[in-house]
Amino acid sequence: MSISIGIHDLSFATAEFVLPHTALAAHNGTAIGKYHVGIGQESMSVPAADEDIVTMGAAAAAPIIARHGTDLIRTVVLATESSIDQAKSAGVYVHSLLGLPSATRVVELKQACYGATAALQFAIGLVRRDPAQQVLVIASDVSKYELDSPGEATQGAASVAMLVGVDPALVRIGDTSGLFTADVMDFWRPNYRDAALVDGQESINAYLQAVEGVWKDYTEQGGYPLGEFAAFCYHQPFTKMAYKAHRHLVDYCGHDADKDDIARAVGQTTAYNTVIGNSYTASVYLGLAALLDQADDLTGRPIGFLSYGSGSVAEFFAGTVVAGYRDHLRTKANLEEIARRRPVDYAGYRDLHERSLPADGGDHSTPSQTSGPFRFAGLSGHKRIYEKR
Ligand code: CAA
Repeated sequence: MSISIGIHDLSFATAEFVLPHTALAAHNGTAIGKYHVGIGQESMSVPAADEDIVTMGAAAAAPIIARHGTDLIRTVVLATESSIDQAKSAGVYVHSLLGLPSATRVVELKQACYGATAALQFAIGLVRRDPAQQVLVIASDVSKYELDSPGEATQGAASVAMLVGVDPALVRIGDTSGLFTADVMDFWRPNYRDAALVDGQESINAYLQAVEGVWKDYTEQGGYPLGEFAAFCYHQPFTKMAYKAHRHLVDYCGHDADKDDIARAVGQTTAYNTVIGNSYTASVYLGLAALLDQADDLTGRPIGFLSYGSGSVAEFFAGTVVAGYRDHLRTKANLEEIARRRPVDYAGYRDLHERSLPADGGDHSTPSQTSGPFRFAGLSGHKRIYEKR
């Protein structure tokens, strides 16, 4: 009999500032309905000058360490597509900030927004090999597009930390996955660029192709029928995409569904993403947090996860919600994390967006802006310096 492995705890952190889409619309003259209704976004998290994927990742994971300690954690996998170093894993900085034991394996994973799902699946493999161990999976990203580009409205930033182990308190992850890979150039970021490049409509088409691909494979692998799922957590570059993707899946399966059926299947997963924006690798798991925090009792019900990473790789799998899960949720902390962000005006956001780090190897400190528990204090001799606040 297969052992039960999955998500034992989940915690997230986002950035210091928030830019409402009304401010972006006022700047570029876009009708606000396009943002609020057309793409389904209300606001976006904007990192302070002294925040990055490391500070957010450590902030997301710290409550998990506080609750469970470090004794069982022997692996940290940090998934990101907004990496801060070509060689050193951001996870090593997080490991240091959290005071994890030296007897830990730490690595960074990348495949656009899919990376965290690879991390979760690899973590399950490690736990299956040694059920006494836990794996800390951290998905951390800052989504950045060119100013005044169509992608600008779909920026955001967040980190989700998940503790993966046996007899999980939240969600048991199923053994069956539907997989899909296609070499497409829908969204990418060359090493010399700070902001991503994207072919917007092509990226939506590529995502929908991947929805078909993963579902076909999931069915062939013997997964649950569509009607079994209580809800679906999709990757959400913007929340409307979850609705588009689910409509596409339902039509592909030849099922009947009206607008309300689609909303029932994905609506509750969008509550955090709609105010945080695109958090790339973290987005599908922010969807899970929002669903668990808001839904009526989901005990014993399968949830469908559809993880899409441009380029592209996608995976569909099921997670079954575990009895007693509500006792382990962090709903209050999650709402506080979103509410604590400070509004930034358009000019302030633009300044932050245009900041770039000096590359001269000198000593440079960053302005003290974040009120989070960790900060990126600056650079010295090409080395990043982090500190606990
Ligand atoms: N009121 C209500 N709705 C309105 C409106 C109004 N006043 N004006 C426009 N809309 C609607 C449009 O009808 C459209 O809806 P549908 O798609 O349902 O028809 C929606 O608002 C968006 O309008 P446009 O398509 O004209 O928007 P756009 O061309 O400016 O770009 C975008 C939209 C392509 C998503 C762009 O924001 C973008 O490039 N984003 C980045 C790429 C992205 O997020 N791709 C998603 C798939 S890739 C992926 O998932 C990986 C990842 O994380 C990047």
